[in-house]
Order: sequence, then structure tokens, then C-alpha cells
Amino acid sequence: MQSILFLCLGNICRSPLAEGAARAAFARSRLPKEFDSAGTGDWHIGHPPDKRAQAVARDHGCDISGLRARQIKADDFARFDLILAADTANLRDLQQLAPPDSRARIALMLDMVPGREGEAVTDPYYGDNTDFLRCWQDVSAVAAALLVQKSW
Ligand code: 4NP
Repeated sequence: MQSILFLCLGNICRSPLAEGAARAAFARSRLPKEFDSAGTGDWHIGHPPDKRAQAVARDHGCDISGLRARQIKADDFARFDLILAADTANLRDLQQLAPPDSRARIALMLDMVPGREGEAVTDPYYGDNTDFLRCWQDVSAVAAALLVQKSW
């Protein structure tokens, strides 16, 4: 079993969309994978994804309404093979939170996509539906790249 945790700031926009896109991409795959998402912040713990995130996922056949936000915890660094951060601020926070014996490899989400290494999945929270659509497209590219690579 290989496992990936998607991480952003609030866990209500980018990382639940990434989790939904990955679940959808791997739904027809027999590869055993585990996906989850979390945020570095605690403002939205227990909340469902932002309505605009739910809408853009739904428009692409993906239901993320059942997801609930949570904050990353120390245990995640032992539980997951790979933790993928949406942007460099999330990545820096991750590196500071990681215990010395962390098992998880840490990278940016778009590091998984050939040619887009080092790019951020931009936060759509203060944006509009176009920003949420761009976010969905970015995390879908990440999911497709993970599916092609098969091993991380
Ligand atoms: P996310 O977006 O990190 O993609 O979930 C945000 C959601 C909420 C806030 C910031 C970013 N906030 O400040 O509440």
C-alpha cells in the first residue's frame, strides 16, 4: 500500500480537490493506494470543502462533499509515504514540522508533473470560479502524473 497526504493551508480548497482528483484518477486502477488531505492551519477543522471547490469537483464528476478538514499532525509523518504541499509556504511549514525520524518524502504537488517542478498550486480562496477551475486543472494534472508514475 502506498499512501499520499495532500497538504495546503486551510484544507478546504486545494488539498481536498487534490484528494478528490487522486481518488477519481485511481478509482479504476487496481493499485492499492491511500489518499488523505490536511491543512497546516486550524481555522477550518471539521468543515466541509469550500462550496466553490465542491462545485468545480462536482462539475467534473467528483463528489468531495463528504470530506472534512483536519490539521496535519506528527503521526502523519510516520503514516504516509509522500506528503505533497500545494505551495512553498506549505512546504516550508512541513519541513519545520517534520520529526527527525520522518518516513514521509516531502515535495510540492506540481513536482510530480514533468515540466512543472517547483510551481505552486495557487490558493483560490480569495479568487473566483476561474481560480477554482485552474486549481482543479492543476490538481488533476498531479493526479494523472501520479497514476502514470505508479510508484513514488
Ligand atoms: P486552501 O485555501 O489552503 O487551499 O484550503 C484556504 C482556505 C482558507 C484560508 C486560506 C486558504 N483561510 O485563511 O481561512
